Amino acid sequence: MANIAIIGVGAIGSTIAAALQQTGRHSLILCTRRALTHPRVETPSGTIEMQALNLTDPKQPVPEGWTADWVLVVTKTYAARAAAAWFPLLLSPETKVAILQNGVEHRDRFPDLAQDKVVPVIVQHPAELKPDGDVLQRGPISLDVENTAAAQAFAALFAPGEVRTHDDFLSIAWRKLCINSAGAVSALTLRPVGVLQQEAPARLAREIAEECATVGRAEGATLPEDIGQQILDFYSAISPDSINSLLADRQAGRPMESDARNGVIVRLGEKHGIPTPLNRMALTLLEAR
Ligand SMILES: NC(=O)c1ccc[n+]([C@@H]2O[C@H](COP(=O)([O-])OP(=O)(O)OC[C@H]3O[C@@H](n4cnc5c(N)ncnc54)[C@H](OP(=O)(O)O)[C@@H]3O)[C@@H](O)[C@H]2O)c1
Repeated sequence: MANIAIIGVGAIGSTIAAALQQTGRHSLILCTRRALTHPRVETPSGTIEMQALNLTDPKQPVPEGWTADWVLVVTKTYAARAAAAWFPLLLSPETKVAILQNGVEHRDRFPDLAQDKVVPVIVQHPAELKPDGDVLQRGPISLDVENTAAAQAFAALFAPGEVRTHDDFLSIAWRKLCINSAGAVSALTLRPVGVLQQEAPARLAREIAEECATVGRAEGATLPEDIGQQILDFYSAISPDSINSLLADRQAGRPMESDARNGVIVRLGEKHGIPTPLNRMALTLLEAR
C-alpha cells in the first residue's frame, strides 16, 4: 500500500493512474490543472473508471494524515517547471519522485530534488486522448527503469511485468530517443507515421536517428550499428495513420517537446564535438513554426 500523487493526468498519466488503481493496493491523488471530467481509460483488458481524489490547485490541502510515498510526474517535458509547483504540497523528505517523460534528461529537469529519490522512467506503451476526453491505451502498460533500490520500489507499485528494471538503462533511454528524434520528420511534414514508410523521408529519419545514436554512444550508451534501420523497422510496424505526440502538439498549437527530442542531441553533440546538422535543422524548423 502506498500513497501516490500523480502530477499530469493526460494520456499517459491516466493509464498509469488506472494501472495503479487496478492493483487495489494504493491511495491515489490526481493533480491536474482542470477538473477531470472523463476519467476513463480504455485499456486492452477493459475500460477503467478512475476513482481518486482530484486536486486542481497546489494550494488545495491533501487529506489530513495523507503524505505521499511517491509523486509521479507525468507532464510533457516542457511543463516540468509548472509541475514542480506541486512539490511543496506533496513532498516530504521521504517521498520518492518518478519522472515519466520522454528524453534522457529526467534528473536534469528537476535539479532541486534529492537525486537518490528520483526515478527516471521511459514509457513504451502508446496512449492518446480521444475527442470525448477518454483515454485510449494502446497495448499493455510498459515501463523501463534503472536497477536501483528506488526504481525497484517503483516497479513494486505495479502489477508484475508492467515495469522492467535495467542495469543499462542509459542505452534504453537513448534507443527511445533515437525513435523520438526521427519522429520529427512526421511533425515537420504534418503527416502521420506513414510518411516514415516512404523512401526519402525514411532515409532522413534514419539519418536523424543515426546522429542521435552517435551522440548517445559518446554519452555511454550501447547502441547497435544498424540502429537507424531498426528505428525504420519500428516505424514500419506502426499503423500509418498513427500520430506521434510531437505532431499532435504541433497540430493543436501547443508547445512541443522538440528540445527534449532533438535539442538535447544538438546540445550534447556540441559537448562531445559531434556535428548534428540534421537534428539542428529539425529543431530550428520546429521552433520557428
Ligand atoms: N502519449 C504517449 O503515447 C506517450 C508514449 C511514450 C512517452 N510519452 C511521454 O510521456 C509524457 C507525458 O505525455 P502525455 O502523452 O501523457 O502528455 P499529455 O497527454 O499532454 O498529458 C500531460 C498532462 O500534463 C498536464 N499538465 C501540464 N502542466 C501541469 C501542471 N502544472 N499541473 C498538473 N498537470 C499539468 C496537462 O494538462 P492540460 O491538459 O491542462 O495541459 C496534461 O493533461 C511526455 O513526456 C511524453 O513524451 C507519451
